[in-house]
Amino acid sequence: MFAKFAAVFVTALAATGAWSSPIAARDTSDDLVARTSHSFNNWRGISSLNNFDNFYGSDNFDNFAAFKQVVIQEQQVVCRTQQIEIIQQRLVILQEMAKRIITEQICEVETQTIVFQQFHASLGHFSGDLRRNSGHQVGYDSNIVSHFGNIVGSDGSISTDDFGFSGKDVGSRTIVPSGSNWNDSSSRSSVEAAFSAASDASSSD
Ligand SMILES: *[C@@H]1O[C@H](CO)[C@@H](O)[C@H](O)[C@H]1NC(C)=O
Repeated sequence: MFAKFAAVFVTALAATGAWSSPIAARDTSDDLVARTSHSFNNWRGISSLNNFDNFYGSDNFDNFAAFKQVVIQEQQVVCRTQQIEIIQQRLVILQEMAKRIITEQICEVETQTIVFQQFHASLGHFSGDLRRNSGHQVGYDSNIVSHFGNIVGSDGSISTDDFGFSGKDVGSRTIVPSGSNWNDSSSRSSVEAAFSAASDASSSD
């Protein structure tokens, strides 16, 4: 189903001599039907949803329609395989931290629901990246990641600092770790098999 997504690649050589690759992708299936606008600014008069759309921009709920990626290669990062439990521990910390932020810093249940769906959908697009279906490079934004240590204050509470970026900045300083064993002739079908097996194992609610 992700084959329906078409990607437009634009490559430019930065003046510094470093490669940068701005990539824009959009869902071409939207062109076949009337585009529906989805705004959550003040949705149903809920004031905690004031300015909701500003973060990623209008009609960019899950940061897919207007996602722009620029790969910076000034920092070389290579993957190094760790034990699976070590990976699973770290990812579940991120998961529980997301739950903590949503339940401690939002009181309105509708807002909790909408914000979580945004997080879930936006993160979910990484699946298409991993399977090379999205047209995006497989990496992470180094600038956004650099704020990780500032989420929790020295007293252990969730910080309320404004870090000075918006969702539109996500991807603009992408690092693509090298060293994966992606194989152009065999990995496309093997990752689809992996995705399918994992989807079969997942429960839905
Ligand atoms: C990529 O996969 C093909 C088909 O399985 C295999 O013949 C080839 O050796 C692989 N290339 C590398 C670099 O592993």
